[in-house]
Amino acid sequence: MARKPIIAGNWKLNKTIKEALELVGGIKEKVADVKDVDIVVGPVFTALSEVGKLTSGSNIGLSAQNLYWEEAGAFTGEVSATLLKDAGCQYVIIGHSERRQYFNETNETVNKKIKAALAQGLTPIVCVGENLEEREGEKTFDVVRDHVTNSLKGFSADEMKKMVIAYEPVWAIGTGKTATPDQAQEVHAFIRKLLNEMHDESVAESIRLQYGGSVKPDNIKDLISQKDIDGALVGGAGLKVDSFVGIIQGCLS
Ligand code: 13P
Repeated sequence: MARKPIIAGNWKLNKTIKEALELVGGIKEKVADVKDVDIVVGPVFTALSEVGKLTSGSNIGLSAQNLYWEEAGAFTGEVSATLLKDAGCQYVIIGHSERRQYFNETNETVNKKIKAALAQGLTPIVCVGENLEEREGEKTFDVVRDHVTNSLKGFSADEMKKMVIAYEPVWAIGTGKTATPDQAQEVHAFIRKLLNEMHDESVAESIRLQYGGSVKPDNIKDLISQKDIDGALVGGAGLKVDSFVGIIQGCLS
């Protein structure tokens, strides 16, 4: 099955509103003709609505980097799926390793957040992946199995098909150490096998799997040419127009 590539920029804790608008304005101009890649930008909460006005009606989707599962109420400091929709989002990144590491995100909270996102029609970009110690201890497949099966527990086949999964080996994030295309492909194929076991082939074959971790214009082609890699979740290289656009162009055949 042909899956459309999806390139998403996770801007993490970077960019004022002004800087965000400059970045997305530059990207928008250069990708206006791109139809064969889904393009997504993920600014901080405070820039979402302004960036959303700029991306509205364009070929660039808008993603938040987190959400809370409750709709409204006494939850100081939190933002719900409804409010993300209101700000113009179509996507939300859930369970990023930095949230698992620094903000006590667990498979259980990831699961609740995915549920909340789907209920409002947001596309969850669900992150999974092992850290260096786990990779060196040959635990990669155990960790990825745990993240995939427990974060994605209890969803129907139709719900599963609305998600994107990002495999991000933590040791490759912001380190300049990309997983080799073979290493990444091996885990992507494993995730697809798990999805097949949890559901069926139509689910496994339709879900798009992104790779994340030091993706750059000069390594995207080798990654995207792998059978089970359908895109990238980009950190550092997503913060500059030329490198982000270069990654998108690297996906066009
Ligand atoms: P880098 O591309 O900076 O390694 O970050 C990857 C990432 O964490 C994207 O979510």
